[in-house]
Amino acid sequence: MPVRLRIQRFNPETDSAPQWREYTVEVEPTDRVLDALHAVKWHCDGSLAFRRSCAHGVCGSDAMMINGKNRLACKLLIKDVKQPIVVEPMRGFAVVKDLIVDQTKFFEKYRAVKPYLIAAEPPPKTERLQSPKQQERFEDTTKCILCGACTTSCPSFWANGEYVGPAAIVQAHRFLFDSRDQGAAERLPVLNEANGVWRCRTIFNCTDACPRGINVTKAIVEVQNLLVARAKDPRGSDAAQ
Ligand code: FES
Repeated sequence: MPVRLRIQRFNPETDSAPQWREYTVEVEPTDRVLDALHAVKWHCDGSLAFRRSCAHGVCGSDAMMINGKNRLACKLLIKDVKQPIVVEPMRGFAVVKDLIVDQTKFFEKYRAVKPYLIAAEPPPKTERLQSPKQQERFEDTTKCILCGACTTSCPSFWANGEYVGPAAIVQAHRFLFDSRDQGAAERLPVLNEANGVWRCRTIFNCTDACPRGINVTKAIVEVQNLLVARAKDPRGSDAAQ
């Protein structure tokens, strides 16, 4: 079937402003928007730039705004989107070229929350054990693939690019609520800063945008509640229960 795409094109090295270009390609209804973008690149205009890698919703590299909402192009079927399919880069990041955005600061914020297990005790001979119930406490936030769809759909982030953002908070949550982790004292000060979790206005755009179905807003509120609990009881146990 023929499919019409309206794609925002922009090369900051040569263009003064973004421009819209329209393309028509042949794809199957059960193909993904990523397949249509490939068809444009391979058959209409080889200069179109976008990121993709796994093509199966795992790597998070092809998050972009499709018909006004952040989506993974590799997860969205042609038959499920209205035409023309309007494709733009995620909002709030500088555009490197076309649909590719500069995620340098995004990953700086990710690193700032120390997204790895911090434990004082040396590793045991086997694994660090925890019960299924303890694992369930942070199961939802383990699903994050760092695509950036949540952070770049957040009006608080659009207004203030220094906001740590939903994705970094989700990553912090994943370790703060892990019974094996003892890094709360290192992570919480970052999240309690002026550009930390308190910038969230519970707008729910992040939850709506997450291609992994993570309840992002709930995770943010849980981190806020943890900060309040620690303010009342600074000696609370390291891993939040
Ligand atoms: S290309 Fe990896 S998530 Fe879409």
